Amino acid sequence: MTAVLEIAGLQKTYRSRKGVRRALDGFDMTVEAGQVHGFLGPNGSGKTTTLRTLLGLIRPNGGRMAILGREVPASLPEVAGQVGAIVESPQFFGNFTAQDTLSLLADAGGVRKERVVAVLELVGLRDRAKDRVKTYSLGMKQRLAVASALLKEPKLLILDEPANGLDPGGIREMRTLMRNLAESGMTVVLSSHILGEIQLICDSVTIISAGRRVAAGSVADVLKTHTSSSVKVALEPGVDMRNAIELLRANGAQVTVEHDHFTVGNAGNPAQITRILAEREIYLSELTPMSADLESVFLELTGTAPVEGQNRQVDQSAAAPAPASGGWGQ
Ligand SMILES: Nc1ncnc2c1ncn2[C@@H]1O[C@H](COP(=O)(O)OP(=O)(O)OP(=O)(O)O)[C@@H](O)[C@H]1O
Ligand SMILES: [Mg+2]
Repeated sequence: MTAVLEIAGLQKTYRSRKGVRRALDGFDMTVEAGQVHGFLGPNGSGKTTTLRTLLGLIRPNGGRMAILGREVPASLPEVAGQVGAIVESPQFFGNFTAQDTLSLLADAGGVRKERVVAVLELVGLRDRAKDRVKTYSLGMKQRLAVASALLKEPKLLILDEPANGLDPGGIREMRTLMRNLAESGMTVVLSSHILGEIQLICDSVTIISAGRRVAAGSVADVLKTHTSSSVKVALEPGVDMRNAIELLRANGAQVTVEHDHFTVGNAGNPAQITRILAEREIYLSELTPMSADLESVFLELTGTAPVEGQNRQVDQSAAAPAPASGGWGQ
C-alpha cells in the first residue's frame, strides 16, 4: 500500500497576546490509498489545525507532511489540483444558486462544465440547483460544500465534519457516497464526532488528543487493541448504587455511572465485582460484558468520558493513552 497522506512530528503553536497555545505537539498520521479514513478527536484537540496546515492555510512550527508522496507545503502547487477539501463550514455567496457557484468554481479551476451537473446529482442537490444558496438549509449548504470539493475529481478528498447538519437520510447518503468514492479509487479523510457513523464508514482511523496521536490503524485493530473489558452492572431495584460504587472505586475500579446502572471499565475479572459487593450484602441483578465500540474507545483514550458531578472543560482531554487497563483487585 502507498501512503497518500503522511504527517510526522507536526508542531503548531499559536501565539497571541494571551500567551502560547500548543495545538499540535508532534502529531503523526498516515493514510493509505483508497481508504476512507476517520480523523477523530475531542473539541480543540487539533483536527482543523492539522487540516489547515496540510492545505497550506497556516504554517507549522515543525514536522514533515507529504501528500501523494510530495512534500508539502513546498510541493503544494503541484498536488493542489489532486486534493479537494472543505475545512470547517465554507462560506458561499447567498445570492448565487448552487449551479452558479459551482460553475464559477469550475471555470476558475479549469474543470469541464458537465462535471457541475454530475456533482450536483452526486450530492443530491439536482432539484434545488437553481435556488439561491441563501434559501438553503444547513444540510443543503453542507452538500454544496462537498460538491465543490468533488468538482476536480480529486485523488484525495478532505472533509472536516461533512455530516454536520445533515439529517439521518443525508448522513446515510453521505456514507454511501464516501464508500463509492473510495471504491472508485479516491482516498477520503473525514473528521467527525459521530463515532457510530465513523465506525460504519471508515476503513481506518487516527485518534488525536491534545495535539498528539493516541491511536491509529484499522477500525477493527483499534477496537481490539484498546478495548478494556467493560461490564455493565445493575443492582436490585430500590438499592442505592452509591455504596456499591464507592466500594468498587476504593478497590481501584473505574466506574462510570449511568442512569439506572453503572459500568466498570477495567473489569479484568468480573467475579471480583460480585465478591466485593456480596461481602457487604449488596447483590447484583445484572452483570453483562459490554461489546466494544469506537465511541467507548474514543472516550477512554481521550479521557473525555463524562464524570459525575463535573463539568468537563474543553482543554481537559488526555495527552497520552490511558494505561492499559488489565483488571484490578486481583
Ligand atoms: N487562530 C488561533 N489562535 C489561537 N488558538 C487557536 C487558533 N485556532 C485554533 N486554536 C487553538 O488550537 C487548539 C486546536 O484547535 P482546532 O480548531 O484544531 O481543534 P479541532 O480538533 O478542530 O476541534 P473541533 O472538534 O472543536 O473542531 C484549540 O485549543 C484552539 O483553541
Ligand atoms: Mg475543527
